[in-house]
Amino acid sequence: MTGYPVADATGFIKLDAMENPFTLPEALAAQLGERLARVALNRYPAPRPAALIEKLKRVMGVPDGCGVLLGNGSDEIISMIAVACAKPGAKLLAPVPGFVMYQMSAKLAQIEFVGVPHRPDLTLDTEAMLAAIAEHQPAVVYLAYPNNPTGTLYPAEDMERIIEAARQSLVVIDEAYQPFAQRSWLPRALDFDNIVVMRTVSKLGLAGIRLGYLAGAPAWLDELDKVRPPYNVNVLTQAAAEFLLDHVDDVLEAQAAGLRAERTLLADAIAALPGAAVFPSAGNFLLVRVPDADALFETLLTARILIKNVSKIHPLLANCVRLTVGTPDENAQMLAALKLVLK
Ligand SMILES: Cc1ncc(COP(=O)(O)O)c(C=O)c1O
Repeated sequence: MTGYPVADATGFIKLDAMENPFTLPEALAAQLGERLARVALNRYPAPRPAALIEKLKRVMGVPDGCGVLLGNGSDEIISMIAVACAKPGAKLLAPVPGFVMYQMSAKLAQIEFVGVPHRPDLTLDTEAMLAAIAEHQPAVVYLAYPNNPTGTLYPAEDMERIIEAARQSLVVIDEAYQPFAQRSWLPRALDFDNIVVMRTVSKLGLAGIRLGYLAGAPAWLDELDKVRPPYNVNVLTQAAAEFLLDHVDDVLEAQAAGLRAERTLLADAIAALPGAAVFPSAGNFLLVRVPDADALFETLLTARILIKNVSKIHPLLANCVRLTVGTPDENAQMLAALKLVLK
């Protein structure tokens, strides 16, 4: 195995990790600093911080009756799910190419990962999913809504068929990119007894604080809570989140709206370049197929722009790169560099 690769981005325009490129307004950052200075660093954090969870439920629209489990990023929740379900013979199933941590969590928990390939156009192969669920009876099914790295937002009817077919499984709907998809299963989290909805504040502009959350029936969350490391969400993260949840609409959601508009502009501009095929994306990134992904990646590196070359991750991604939507200026620079190759 190799560890999770994170490229050194010092001195680069960083468009490889689907971060929000905007920082907090200065006045708000100063207020946050004051708030954090008062945090009791000498004490362990609250293991299940009630006030933060209540605020999160209210601000994010978690339905009444749902529990919320917090994680050190949704990455940690993904690990907890694999550990909690790791009985001998258990399997974890997801469409591929998908988020690498699903497969990684299965490997680390020593359970089998079943990857179900998308169709060649990177849409969901629902029939293949249903067949694989019937064959493997997985303990866990992941559906990322939208999917990374493809950006695909699966049709609701197909998701429903999979949820119905996976009655013996826990279906985790991963909504990491919800701020850019603006569609959500969260309001329906209690409509099915085998789903939970996973979210993160990372893509909303707070990747650095590491806070993910899982919403669903308390019966599921109580089981998963048994494998949660105690004190997994630190005091600074809790305080920052509590403070910033009061500024989702005026700051973070406003930034996401700007990125959604930029996504459209960027997609149209890239689609107009010779040889580029842009896949429809509901995330803050674009998957683009080009004639030579390696050459394009190298040219952008020379221009000090870091993107993700995903072409070797899965055969369906041959010659594909994933570009995070950045600030208007960053996008303009990326576009200029793309034009050096795609002409
Ligand atoms: C689909 C998906 N889920 C989860 C995550 C992890 O998010 P977090 O920063 O909360 O660990 C990512 C990160 O890129 C992602 O793409």
